[in-house]
Amino acid sequence: MSDERLRALAERLAEDVCRSYRLGPDEAVEKILAVWRADRAFCAALSGAPDAEKFTRTRIYKDAATKARKAIYFGLRRYCADDKALAAACEELARLPKDGDAAPLLKTIAANHASTAERAAHLDLFWNEILSALGEARSLIDVGSGVLPVLFPFARAPSLQHYLARDRDGAAVRAVEAYAGWRGDGRLTARRWDLKDGWDAGETFDVALMLKIVPVVARQEPALLETLARVPARRVILTGSKEALVKRRAIARRERNVIEGFARDAGFRVSHTFETPDEIGLVAETG
Ligand SMILES: C[S@@+](CC[C@H](N)C(=O)[O-])C[C@H]1O[C@@H](n2cnc3c(N)ncnc32)[C@H](O)[C@@H]1O
Repeated sequence: MSDERLRALAERLAEDVCRSYRLGPDEAVEKILAVWRADRAFCAALSGAPDAEKFTRTRIYKDAATKARKAIYFGLRRYCADDKALAAACEELARLPKDGDAAPLLKTIAANHASTAERAAHLDLFWNEILSALGEARSLIDVGSGVLPVLFPFARAPSLQHYLARDRDGAAVRAVEAYAGWRGDGRLTARRWDLKDGWDAGETFDVALMLKIVPVVARQEPALLETLARVPARRVILTGSKEALVKRRAIARRERNVIEGFARDAGFRVSHTFETPDEIGLVAETG
């Protein structure tokens, strides 16, 4: 069958998909083609169809379109976009000499996690807010860190000697561990951990980062909000997203309500609020 015919249909579906989902047309076309090329029955039906226009009204086309949409939806819902690219960057980082340039590898790692990828265009603004809320903190726990610690500007936070990243996602933790190993200065450590495991006895941090995690927990495991509220830190920096992970939909107001409600129920005192182009945040004192 001519690939042009398949591509023309994919481009047409991609236009529609991109109106509701957060991805560009070229990316959408490639994802649709990947699903369709693996579907022999669909390819055979398309090559036997005399009229491509009429074909889009058949059950087999509609099912294939739904299958491609679902693949795109579930792909976008994953935080780690490409596990292989992430693993390759981590391996390279492990081999990189101490005086090598880690920046391109760190950029690849960050680009492969949805939460850090969406901050790429305004990272400076974001770090200005976080660093100003950190003040002279010496210790920090990053709860549900994703791969954010690989971008942390350690040089701009000289007081911070202990950054502990925790996440349940093994790929994200391996990436942070690879970076911590390359740094080799002991300031950053990473641990695979699930919120349901709770906190270690006796640990206390100056600051806890809870970036884009409170709304996730509120949605997926609301019973664990109580554990989050007992975070062993004096100050907490909480954020939520302005746009949904998958759909092109503004969610700032909803996310603000969730993080404000959480802070109120936890008995935190909000001392500052901030905003970046894709995120809303609160700084709160826990004591
Ligand atoms: C929206 S991402 C935010 C990542 C990072 N904080 C950032 O802002 O770039 C949420 C992160 O929380 C982690 N997470 C969600 N539920 C968790 C849980 N119950 N225990 C540990 N980590 C969790 C996910 O694996 C994911 O990396």
